[in-house]
Amino acid sequence: MILRDEIMNFKYATNTSNIDEPDVHLIGVFSDLKIDEKNNFLSRNSLSKIRNVMKKCNFSGNIGDHRTFDNTGSQIQIILFGLGEKRKFGPVILKNVLTSITKKILKTNMQSLSINVDNLIERKSEESSLELIITTMHASKYKYNYKSKPDTYKLKICNIISKIKLTSSKFSQILKTSKSISNGISLAKELGNTPPNICNPTFLANTVKKLKKEFPSLKIKILEEAEMKKHGMGAFLSVSRGSKQPGKIVIMEHTPVKSKKPIAIVGKGITFDTGGISLKPSPNMDEMKYDMSGAGTVIGVMRACVEMRVKTNVIGVITCAENMPGSQASRPGDVVKTMSGITVEILNTDAEGRLVLCDAITYTKKYKPRYLIDMATLTGACLVGLGKYPSGLFSNDEQLADMIKKSADKTGDRVWQLPLYDDYFDELKTNFADIQNIGGRYGGAITAAAFLAKFTDDIKWAHLDIAGTAWDVGINKGSTGRPVSLIIDFIRSN
Ligand code: BES
Ligand code: MN
Ligand code: ZN
Repeated sequence: MILRDEIMNFKYATNTSNIDEPDVHLIGVFSDLKIDEKNNFLSRNSLSKIRNVMKKCNFSGNIGDHRTFDNTGSQIQIILFGLGEKRKFGPVILKNVLTSITKKILKTNMQSLSINVDNLIERKSEESSLELIITTMHASKYKYNYKSKPDTYKLKICNIISKIKLTSSKFSQILKTSKSISNGISLAKELGNTPPNICNPTFLANTVKKLKKEFPSLKIKILEEAEMKKHGMGAFLSVSRGSKQPGKIVIMEHTPVKSKKPIAIVGKGITFDTGGISLKPSPNMDEMKYDMSGAGTVIGVMRACVEMRVKTNVIGVITCAENMPGSQASRPGDVVKTMSGITVEILNTDAEGRLVLCDAITYTKKYKPRYLIDMATLTGACLVGLGKYPSGLFSNDEQLADMIKKSADKTGDRVWQLPLYDDYFDELKTNFADIQNIGGRYGGAITAAAFLAKFTDDIKWAHLDIAGTAWDVGINKGSTGRPVSLIIDFIRSN
């Protein structure tokens, strides 16, 4: 994984006269079309020119509306980009518009840009707004590495202009944090996008080993199948048995604080999900390479935590296995015993995520976490129910759910909570084991979460179903790096 840092050096200035003239200056404009001439490289004259052209060309300030001005009297190219309606503006729109404009610039030969961010910043939280802006711009440079000629970028300097008074040490701290978060997001994206013939359980474990090499303070442990057998992880092993690739559970420990209970994050790491014997239909099955996005998120978050030396103890656990219909694969009707002692009747081998996760949750409990959050591309039902915008949130603790919602609102990495009524748990009853691995016809995201809840006991636990949010479809087909920023914010805030 190459994190090209020679591009995009960020500089901070409170005034345009303090920076070298850039190739391009970006101005975000709301649909009220108000433009500040100060600190935007605009003279009265050029501003009135722009106003005229705006009118002529129907520049609306809507999201997605961009306009380039070349002849405003200076060498600098000016690009206006729409921010939409002011009252609707927030982290989600900020991220969308900034990502698209930065990507546009990256495709050109321009080497330097500037942007006045005063109209993008939330007054109540100036520094974290700035952090979100820089993180977003920095994260836009992510590019997929498995093409013979990956794109090359020219952009070297990003001047951030704002009237906020910042000491240079404060800015370099914000910058460092933003880059760490962005590196975590890029790593999660790259892992998600890596083809499943390369990104298998061993590859994920090797990625963690490399991370440890780069950041020696990170402690890691790799559970091989033999050891899982000793722990009685019958549910996990029933999934990995169908594949030639050996399954692995990898534990990462970032514990800078003595004797304080950690936050534990657990990620589903199915590196390819064929469904097993309950084979999936072939259309779009390639997308099942993203079924390790929960694990990718955990690795990305752990990277950010060690890189920015978060002063919270964090345990990351990933459940790496491939769900294949090999000759040793589970059959519908098999009964397996989990590490917790609960027996499970496997009625559908495609409901494998909960099987690998339940043993990992039981294992993670030995760390006595303050909170345990699992992330998983767990159900198509979540995607059907909530669409592609929020992750599904489930919790056995309302306070924890509220904390996660707060981080979601702050980072624009949205969640939507779904209920866990007792009725859903009733659907997991079977005559042939303690529980079965699927519920009835309806509410599949919830019965999946209810299954996991059975293994949490008194731990404060939350589950994020990221089936809809971890990757995008259409022209932006690929991994999104969600919910890395949400989880990092949660860890830093709590
Ligand atoms: N990895 C899938 C969930 C998934 C489906 C994620 C589509 C993203 C897009 C998961 O392992 C799965 O197959 N779940 C089944 C559960 C069912 C058999 C109860 C599903 O959602 O169909
Ligand atoms: Mn499946
Ligand atoms: Zn799956």
